[in-house]
Amino acid sequence: TKAQAWSALFSEPMSELVKRYTSSVFFDRRLWQADIAGSLAHAEMLAAQGIIGAQDHADIQRGMATIAREIESGEFEWQLDLEDVHLNIEARLTQLVGDAGKRLHTGRSRNDQVATDVRLWLRGEIDLIAGLLADVQRALVEVAERNVEVILPGFTHLQVAQPVSFAHHLLAYVEMFARDAERMQDVRRRVNVLPLGSAALAGTTYPLDRERVARTLGMEGVCQNSLDAVSDRDFAIEFTAAASLVMVHVSRLSEELIVWMSQNFGFIRIADRFTTGSSIMPQKKNPDVPELARGKTGRVVGHLMALITLMKGQPLAYNKDNQEDKEPLFDTVDTLKDTLRIFAEMIGGQPNPATGAKEGGITVNADAMRAAALKGYATATDLADYLVKKGLPFRDAHETVAHAVRAAVERGVDLAELPLQTLQGFHPAIEADVFEALSLEGSLNARNTLGGTAPAQVRAQLARHRARLAEG
Ligand code: ARG
Repeated sequence: TKAQAWSALFSEPMSELVKRYTSSVFFDRRLWQADIAGSLAHAEMLAAQGIIGAQDHADIQRGMATIAREIESGEFEWQLDLEDVHLNIEARLTQLVGDAGKRLHTGRSRNDQVATDVRLWLRGEIDLIAGLLADVQRALVEVAERNVEVILPGFTHLQVAQPVSFAHHLLAYVEMFARDAERMQDVRRRVNVLPLGSAALAGTTYPLDRERVARTLGMEGVCQNSLDAVSDRDFAIEFTAAASLVMVHVSRLSEELIVWMSQNFGFIRIADRFTTGSSIMPQKKNPDVPELARGKTGRVVGHLMALITLMKGQPLAYNKDNQEDKEPLFDTVDTLKDTLRIFAEMIGGQPNPATGAKEGGITVNADAMRAAALKGYATATDLADYLVKKGLPFRDAHETVAHAVRAAVERGVDLAELPLQTLQGFHPAIEADVFEALSLEGSLNARNTLGGTAPAQVRAQLARHRARLAEG
């Protein structure tokens, strides 16, 4: 077909190179369901308003049903000549139902059409992503529940700092992903607003009922300014920013998994199916999945930069630049969904079809964690706190403990391995109960403030997350 909606004005056909350069159908065809849903809602309203006849409306419905079947079965012939998903579907509709197909575009422009399609599509994807974020949180909570009493060194500056519960460490990521889920819901509110009815840029001369279309499409409202409606892509930028933060959290977790599974730490293992071997070194099991996730974070952040830069110089209203919003947005969604799916399974495992119990999540080496926590003087702060409770000012206690640590380092032992008399040499207030304070469990139990790592606090947080995630 030579079908081009505006062809009468043009004295020569578009060059093949320009056609390829300007057409978007090979990526925007993924919007087809949203495009059909938007068209059906528009047609229904046109009929209700008496702008098209009932027969036209019925023909449009019938034609769209055929088109949906054709696309689903792969029979639909997508044509580069028809530029984008919108013109491809409209041309096929007219082929199928004649004049009714030509009436569909009354009071509409591709400018408000594409903005509507992207919003509808993204709304559905956000809902899928919300489910996946919940899956990842549940996986972390499940592993945390088994590891409340498992102690590893907490780090600052990647130097051993204080002992923490492994569950507490995992729940830090649950907090991050919970904020991400909230952010997605917040973005969704601004995505779910209807541009249709703005037409090309200035509104339309037909008596459209925009509120009706919004209700049909399950949207929360209509865009209030036609110029803004057709040209706004804030919602795509916001979404990609929220997605970038999810990926940053995934990336931080990935970095920890990679470090934890290195031979020098040996804190965890991940199932073999998430690792790969080396073509030269036979002993290797490499953490490719977390490494790739860390790498793909750069890609998603790059898409955020692309979208922000895309918008920065655009005058009102629609400009073709906006067609460039799609590939970054689509790839962001694809990358995010794949990453979250794989992380939920890599951390939490997969349900065994026979028993229903999850298998194949991360394996924790509690002994290695404990051994690491016993190195590096992780309970030095506890000794200082002990002395404060005996009446020393904190700064003096800090200094006293620094001397004790230095002596322990020189002997190559832990603080708890120094004899009581030696410890008393640093301060006479030290008594036999110091060894409880210096133990890993004593250290954890003592941090019993809200949000702290004491097992009692961690269990309270686990219960809160359990309840929150069960609702969702
Ligand atoms: N394919 C276009 C896009 O993605 C649709 C809108 C085109 N509108 C126009 N006036 N050229 O943005």
